[in-house]
Formats: sequence, C-alpha cells, structure tokens
Amino acid sequence: MSTQVLVVTGAGGVGKTTLSAALGVTAARRGLRTCVMTVDPARRLADALGLESLDNHPEPVAAQPGLAAAMLDVTASWEAMVHRHAEPEIARRLLDDPFFRALADRFPAAQAYAAGEQMAEHIESHRWDLVVVDTPPAGGGLDFYTAPGRMRELIGGRLLRWLTGASIPGRRALYKVTARPALRLADVVLGGPLLEEIADFLMDLRSLYDGISRRASAIENHLGEATSIVVTTANPTPLREARRFFEELENGRPTTVVFNKQLPETWTDRASLRGVDLDPDTRAATRDNLARWASEVRLQHEIKQEFVARYGLQLLEVPWADTAPTSVDLLADLLEQAPDLVAKVIAEPNSDHG
Ligand SMILES: Nc1ncnc2c1ncn2[C@@H]1O[C@H](COP(=O)(O)OP(=O)(O)OP(=O)(O)O)[C@@H](O)[C@H]1O
Ligand SMILES: [Mg+2]
Repeated sequence: MSTQVLVVTGAGGVGKTTLSAALGVTAARRGLRTCVMTVDPARRLADALGLESLDNHPEPVAAQPGLAAAMLDVTASWEAMVHRHAEPEIARRLLDDPFFRALADRFPAAQAYAAGEQMAEHIESHRWDLVVVDTPPAGGGLDFYTAPGRMRELIGGRLLRWLTGASIPGRRALYKVTARPALRLADVVLGGPLLEEIADFLMDLRSLYDGISRRASAIENHLGEATSIVVTTANPTPLREARRFFEELENGRPTTVVFNKQLPETWTDRASLRGVDLDPDTRAATRDNLARWASEVRLQHEIKQEFVARYGLQLLEVPWADTAPTSVDLLADLLEQAPDLVAKVIAEPNSDHG
C-alpha cells in the first residue's frame, strides 16, 4: 500500500493541529500505520501525544498504538536542507551566516517550506500508510502550497532585493551587477564590506539552487497527490482563506473543506424553559441567550450552505466540543461525531482508495 497523505491547512486558530491529531488517532485505531507531523501544538495536546520538544523524527505515541508523532523543528529542517544540498564547507559557512539565519527567520515561506521538506521525508521513508501534515499558521493555508515555488524563486535570485530592502544605498545599481569585483568597488565607494559579504553569501546560497529546485519539485509532486483538508469555521476571515483554494489555485486541487467548532443544529429550536424553576430575571436572560444562539446557528447554517453550494462540496462538520479535545480519547470522540469526514478522507486499510 502506498502512503496516503492528508495535508491539513486553514487560517490561524481554526483547529488544524487538533484535527490533524484527531485524524491521526482515528486512522491508527483503524489499523493504519500513521504519522502525524504537528506544528506548535498547544501544551496539553503535545503532552497527550508525548511530544516534549521540537523534533522532526516521529516517535511512537504511548497512548495510541499505531500512531507516531513529530513536532516540526524549522531550524533543524533548514540545517538538514543545507547539509543535503551544499558542500560541507559551504554548508558550515552558510549556517554561520547572519544573513542565512535572517532568511530562515524572516522569509515568510520559510516555515511552510520546512514543513514541506519534512512531509516529503516522512512520505519517502515508506514507513507509513498515512502521513497527516499539520501546517504552519503564518500566511494562511494556501502558503503551504506556494512555498516550494517561492523558495525556488528566492534562491534563484530575488533574495538580494529582499535582503537589502530600502535602507542600503545603491540598491538598484547593486541589483544589476552580480560580479564580485564590481561589488568590491561598490563597497569602496559606499565605505563598507557589507556588499561583498552579501555577495559571498549569495554565491554560497546559489550553490544550493539545483538541489533545492529539485527538492521543491518533489514536494510539489507530493502535494499534487495529497488530499488537502482546509479547516475553517463559519467566520469571515477563515472562510476567505478557504475560498482562496478555489479561486487562486490553477487546475482545481481536490479540496475537502471542514467546518470545525460547529454549534449543534438543534440549537435552532429554542429549548423550552417550561417547568424549569428560574427566578424571573434569570428566566428572561436565559431566554434571550437561547434566542441569540438560535439565530447564530441559523446564520452559520446559511453561510455554510452557500459556501458548499458555490463550490459543489459536501458539507463536512466537526462539532464544537465542550471540553478542549486534548487527550487521545477525546480526539477520537470528536471525530466519532464527524463520520462523513472520516469516511471521506481516511482510506480503509487494504483498499486502493487514495
Ligand atoms: N472542535 C473543537 N471543539 C472545541 N475546541 C476546539 C475544537 N477544535 C479546536 N479546538 C480548540 O481551539 C484551539 C485552537 O485549536 P488548534 O490549536 O488546533 O488550532 P490551529 O488551527 O492549529 O491554530 P494555529 O493556527 O495557531 O496553529 C485549541 O484550544 C483547541 O483545543
Ligand atoms: Mg496549530
């Protein structure tokens, strides 16, 4: 059986990490050898998965046989990437270089690219039936898909402009000349070794280009075969992010949209307070409160219906749990209430699907 891949993306705070873990637990309970790669899980969830610190190597989850988990370590991923693609001496120089560190910290797609590299490694290890990939929140869901291309572009030459910004004089001139003697001359004119340092750095970085370019293509291929799960709520900001998957990605990626933290539809029928012993003030406040929730549920219902109808999707929902789902059992319980989602994205063992 080949490795099935679920990439879980979406806007910040919608429940990507929680649902990644829950899908991992559910798949493991169905007998799939499963690896969940998490990004920055909340403390209690990390504890439940036995994740003590950043570590790209999946370790078995004691509380759930069949499941292993890793916690994305961006710095280690970048270091591994440099060692993979550069001569040892160049690798050392790059890793010591403040510009390179700035790149890893400040390039917006850096985290997403690192996550993509790890994803590719877990897939290519052939140890898993299923790899679930939680993605970094920065920039929203789509960034995970565009990061390999951005990375290639960055190392391919746009870096200079990005690094120098507006504060270094002569930027336009610098941008046009790439030969070192010219840069050295520019340093003399500008009175500092900065440009030459940057030039050395850029040459080192360029030596990574072929390797990274190939790697980025491999990541893109894996992404092309993965099932994308876009997590959202019925709120405008995450929905806008989810919409981008349909409106900005060419050749329509097969995308599953999941509405997380959903209120029960039954809340549209106002619960009766008849026979409940409440003082008049509490009764009035409770009635208002129930009416408010009922209208919220109706509004969310309309928003969801409109969204799925527009893109021809199946409506998939995960309920709003009253206790934050931070143990293996609570995670499994959560998805027991979302059977359509599980049926859609987790292949049965020994089936060809996915
Ligand atoms: N279905 C749910 N019911 C109740 N609470 C939930 C549910 N899903 C997620 N949560 C809670 O919402 C919070 C955010 O969830 P989570 O960390 O999984 O989101 P995220 O999308 O990974 O966030 P980030 O973008 O910061 O990585 C957590 O406290 C989590 O326990
Ligand atoms: Mg998260």
